[in-house]
Order: sequence, then C-alpha cells, then structure tokens
Amino acid sequence: MLKKQSVKKKIFIGAAWPYANGSLHLGHVAGLIGGDIIARYYRLCANDVLFVSGTDCHGTPIVIEAEKKGIHPSKIAEKYHKEFIKTLVSGLNFSYDCYTKTTTEKHKEVVQNIFLKLYKKGYIYTKTEELPFCPKCKRFLPDRYIEGECPKCHYKKARGDQCDECGNLMNTKELLRARCKNCNNTPEWKSSEHFFLKLSSFQNKLKKRVAKSRGWRSNATKFTLNLLKEGLPDRAITRDTEWGVPIPLKGYTNKRIYVWFEAVCGYLSASKEWSEKQNKKNKWESFWLKDNSIHYYVHGKDNIPFHTIIWPSMLMAFGDLHLPDKIISSEYLTLEKKQFSKSRNWAVWLPDFLKDFDSEMLRYYLIINGPENSDTDFSWKEFQTKINNELVANFGNLAHRTFSLIKKNFPNGIEFPKKLDNKSKQLLKQAEKSFTLIGEAIQEARFRQGLKIAMDLSDQANQYLSDAAPWESVKNNHSQAAKDLAVTAHIIRCLAILLNPFIPLTIKRIKQITKNDPEKIWQYPTPGFVQIADLKPLYKKIDDSEIKNQIERLG
Ligand code: MF3
Ligand code: ZN
Repeated sequence: MLKKQSVKKKIFIGAAWPYANGSLHLGHVAGLIGGDIIARYYRLCANDVLFVSGTDCHGTPIVIEAEKKGIHPSKIAEKYHKEFIKTLVSGLNFSYDCYTKTTTEKHKEVVQNIFLKLYKKGYIYTKTEELPFCPKCKRFLPDRYIEGECPKCHYKKARGDQCDECGNLMNTKELLRARCKNCNNTPEWKSSEHFFLKLSSFQNKLKKRVAKSRGWRSNATKFTLNLLKEGLPDRAITRDTEWGVPIPLKGYTNKRIYVWFEAVCGYLSASKEWSEKQNKKNKWESFWLKDNSIHYYVHGKDNIPFHTIIWPSMLMAFGDLHLPDKIISSEYLTLEKKQFSKSRNWAVWLPDFLKDFDSEMLRYYLIINGPENSDTDFSWKEFQTKINNELVANFGNLAHRTFSLIKKNFPNGIEFPKKLDNKSKQLLKQAEKSFTLIGEAIQEARFRQGLKIAMDLSDQANQYLSDAAPWESVKNNHSQAAKDLAVTAHIIRCLAILLNPFIPLTIKRIKQITKNDPEKIWQYPTPGFVQIADLKPLYKKIDDSEIKNQIERLG
C-alpha cells in the first residue's frame, strides 16, 4: 500500500500595513516582528510561505500631513514608503515575499473588483446619511478628526468610529458632545450619500468562527466576542475625500473607498502582485483558494476589529477565499513607561535607532520583552542590561569562548567525538528537544517563550563549558578538550538555526567564523567537523555612554 503523503501546508502571513504619515518607531516594530519570525520559521521547515505587507498610503492622517507641508498626499506616501522599505526590509531584515503599497494599479483593481462584487451581491448598498461637517474647516470630518464621548462607556476621547477604551464600534452620530479635533468647533450635520457594508449578515457566521477559532491571541477573542455580543451595525465604507481608491460606479467622483475597507484588500492584492512578479500568475491561488493553508494575521491591538470582523465579512461576502486562521494581535509597547507620542516627540524612531545599533539587538529585545499578552516597556537602561547580560554575555560569549579556544588550540579543526559522556549526551538531547519546543512556540505565536528556550540552551552550554574548562584540560588532556569544544561548537550550530527566526543575521556571522555552513533546515543537525576561519565577536557590548546619549535625546 502506498504511504499517504502528508500535504505540506501553505503558510500565508499578513502583517499590518503601516500608515505613510510618519516614520516608524519601536512600538510599531514590536507589533510587526512576529510576522517575520513565523515566516522564517516555516521557511526553515520547508513549507511554502507567502509573507506580505505594504505601506498604507490612503486615509486622512496622510492628507492632513500633506496639507501641513503644502504638498500632494502622494509625495508624503512615497517618501515614507521608501523609508519603510529601508528600515523594515534592509534595516530589520523583515523577509517579506512582497512588500508593496496601496497606491498600485494592481491594488486598485483588486479593491474595485471586491467592491463591485459585493455591491452586485447586495452586501454593499447606498444610504444617505447625515455626517459631521466642520463649517470652519470646510470638510466632512473623518473618524479620527472627530472626538466625543462614547455612548457606551462614556470615555471622553472616543473617536468617530471607535472607542479605544471599550472597543465599541459605532456610527459617528452616536458619539456624544462631538467636536472637530482640528479646530474644536461643533460640527454640523450634512447629508451625504454613502455605501454601506452589510456586516449584520455575517453576525452569526462570525460568532461561530470565533467560537471555533484556535491560535488567536486572547485580546482578539475577547474584543471580537464583545463586539458580536452587541450586534454588528452596517458600516459606511466610503468617505468624502479625493485621496483614496475611487468608487467604481458612476457619479461618485468626490468620494473614495474607506481606507480600512481598501487596506485589508491589500493582503490579496499583494499576493497577486507577488505571483505576477514571478510570472506565475495564478500562484496566489494555492494560498487563497485551497484548504491546505494557514493564514496568520499579525498587528497591534487597535487593528483587531478590522481583521476579525470586517476583513472576514468581506471575504465571506466575496466567496471562495480563505478566511483568517490565526489572529496575532499585540498589546502596546511603552517608552520609559509612557505612551509613544509623535506630537510630544516621545519616541525612538526606527531610522535613528538603526543608525546607532545592530539590528539584531533590537530584534532580540523586542522579542524577549514583546508585548504579547500585556503591555511592555522599552527603557534604554533595560535595553542595555538585557543586551549585555543576555545576548552578549550568554550567547555571544559562548560562541566567542568556544571559537577562540578552537582557533588557538586546534587550528586544523576538530572532529566530532564518536563516544560521548553522559553530560554531553544530556546537553545534546536538550538541543534536539529545543527544535520541537521552539517550533511549537513559534507556531502558536509564543515568541518570548521560544526565544527564552534558545537562550536557556545557550546558558546550559555555557555552564557545560565552564565545568569542562577546556582551557585547563588542553594543557594535559588534549583529546578531552577537543571533545568538549566539539560539543559546545555543535550546540552553537544548533543555536544558529534555532535563533534564526528571531535574529537572522547571527547565522551569517557564524558562517563567516566557522568553515561549517550551518544547514538552514529546522532540524537537529548532524554533528561534524569544525574549524575556525575568521574569528570575530558576534555582537558588541553597549557602553554606558551610548545609552546616556540616547536618553538625552528623548523628548
Ligand atoms: N494602517 C493601519 C495601521 O497602521 C494598519 C492597516 S493593516 C491592513 O493601523 F492590513 F489593513 F492594511
Ligand atoms: Zn474644524
């Protein structure tokens, strides 16, 4: 009988699309980095991976930013798009298969196609509504530019469409004591015709899906169940603006498709762009149309309803497209215990950070201290401590001690021993087990835990090395020293792979040092010969003066 072939899963990962209205700061990175960890891990497992994202170019914040500078919104969008590529892709090594933007022709085509299909199927309908119009600013006020009291929890600073305090999604008219955020004036209500998405049709289906869901962060489940409990109102998905994707129907030249409706379509348009760029026009289908795929969505908690309610409703309305499986929403990162704020310049900007520090360090810190299930804090002092005591003193030191001893005492390299003592066997067992444990942790988006398991292994190897003291034994028991060093060198080789999803440059640095090429497969490697070519420390310690400089620059 033929053995049943297990079909490899296709892994789709959609990371949130940053708005092109300003530079990214460390808080953004904390919410996005999980996507890259998942993508790298599954690639090492030889799965087909499609990891996409892009720049969210539309929406009012960009229009306002452009007005301030007196230039066209497209100029702002382009500037930040370039910067995001530089910082996320080149700077932090996010391994997107496609990083694009929402101003492409492809995106417009995909969005308009979805819009039209939903309209034809009756999931989008028009209605004339009274909308807040600021007589002083002379424009309809979009969600973020109108503030008032939440009718549900009475939080005073709720936005037009959503209360960040209780998560209530609402129609702006329900907002109490509304005012224009730009000029503080009380808005008037003016009639305008808009398109609405019939979310109410998906209430029950969504409820069932949440109940069945596995691998959602608990904040996403809670938030979504809460919204569903209230009952979903239909939502306006067009706006009175000229910056955005045009409505593909006659007579609406002054309106555009709402930025969120359109941005989430980016997951699909980026997938299609990726296919076309490889001249395999239909390749996206294997991720979106077949059942054997897993779709991960990675973003910050303010993005939850768009990924758990709106996008899935749109996909169900469209039909045949794979729905989100795993919702990986992060809590927030604070900076020295205070919220990041652009207006108060309370931020560490990514372009600045990358000028001064090794990107591996940022990745390490934002993962080990990631805001996975509660808010966490970035503090410069703690950053220094963690990097110096953990990354440098633990793993960096293990590698450097091992490699320099090998280079000095065994310039021709060492073979892996045929016979091992129990202590060595135990350590190698631990390494082997780590592949399973860390793999499971990453699959379930427990990144902190995964990275911690790797660091614990490194810690144990350091202990092993200290106990074995090959720098002593080498004087009178050359072969014992060789054996011990071969074992730690092999653990480093394992760690080069185990750490690869988290800190991807490290494996390359190790490759330059050893003549061994650590395999890029998520699998316990076969021990082998090791020789040192080019000895160099993996990381550099962070000095007090560097941290002092950074703290002075804050605020
Ligand atoms: N631009 C949004 C934000 O920064 C995220 C959009 S995610 C998308 O909050 F997928 F919908 F594009
Ligand atoms: Zn105003």
